Amino acid sequence: MSDSLNILIIGDVLGKAGRRALRDHLPNLLDEHQIDFCVANGENIAAGFGTTLKLADELFTLGVDVITNGNHCWDQRSFLEDIEEDDRFVRPANFSKYAPGNGWTIQETRDGHKVAVINLIGQVFMGTWDCPFEAADRVLAEIPDDVNAILVDLHAEVTSEKMGMGWYLDGQVSMVYGTHTHVPTCDEIIHPSGTAFQSDIGMTGSYNSIIGMKKEGALRRMVQRLPQRFEAVERGATIFATKITVNAQTRQTTHIQRICIRPEA
Ligand SMILES: [Fe+2]
Ligand SMILES: [Fe+2]
Repeated sequence: MSDSLNILIIGDVLGKAGRRALRDHLPNLLDEHQIDFCVANGENIAAGFGTTLKLADELFTLGVDVITNGNHCWDQRSFLEDIEEDDRFVRPANFSKYAPGNGWTIQETRDGHKVAVINLIGQVFMGTWDCPFEAADRVLAEIPDDVNAILVDLHAEVTSEKMGMGWYLDGQVSMVYGTHTHVPTCDEIIHPSGTAFQSDIGMTGSYNSIIGMKKEGALRRMVQRLPQRFEAVERGATIFATKITVNAQTRQTTHIQRICIRPEA
């Protein structure tokens, strides 16, 4: 068993455009970068609103190992039950105690490494959730010692809260990364005790949009402040992802690299 792990992290996958781009590029990307484990955020795979089993299956088939979630988790009401169907789904661990599903999971890579994925949601501009810092402590106390890498998807709006979590967990996990804003940040760093951090991985979706939605409708809402349906853009997605290399003995990250694949013109 090799003692390092290459992990690919994909942020919010937005609707058909995002799924198409992954279908076109993900298998190659996994191959080219010798990826052992891949995680993606699935809160927007169903035309921007939530997750279904069928669409999640598309991602699993392409090589995604775990699907995290966020504030859109229950937009498809069927997911309240479907989340229990597969332990590769996680939803924020600091949702209320009544939420179905799990806040973290451990999955194995092809060569037997164990990767834990923890999902959290922020408290600032995100609704009323339990404290993500306390939830992280609670989950980490439960994770067994033989896990080779630990990833934390903090689904949150504000960068300060995400940066806070990065420092709070430095030395305890392999990476803390943000999702939700649909805009990638170029602040990737490895903290002194080996925890990688990036404020937001960015959306895999169309940037010829307003955070993945058709700009006309979104603009009408902003300008006229009247109800307007959001419609996801269906083509032309950019893939933003981040690759980390983790020492499987120490769980520390040794290398971090942002990846971007633009749509063909
Ligand atoms: Fe999102
Ligand atoms: Fe979100």
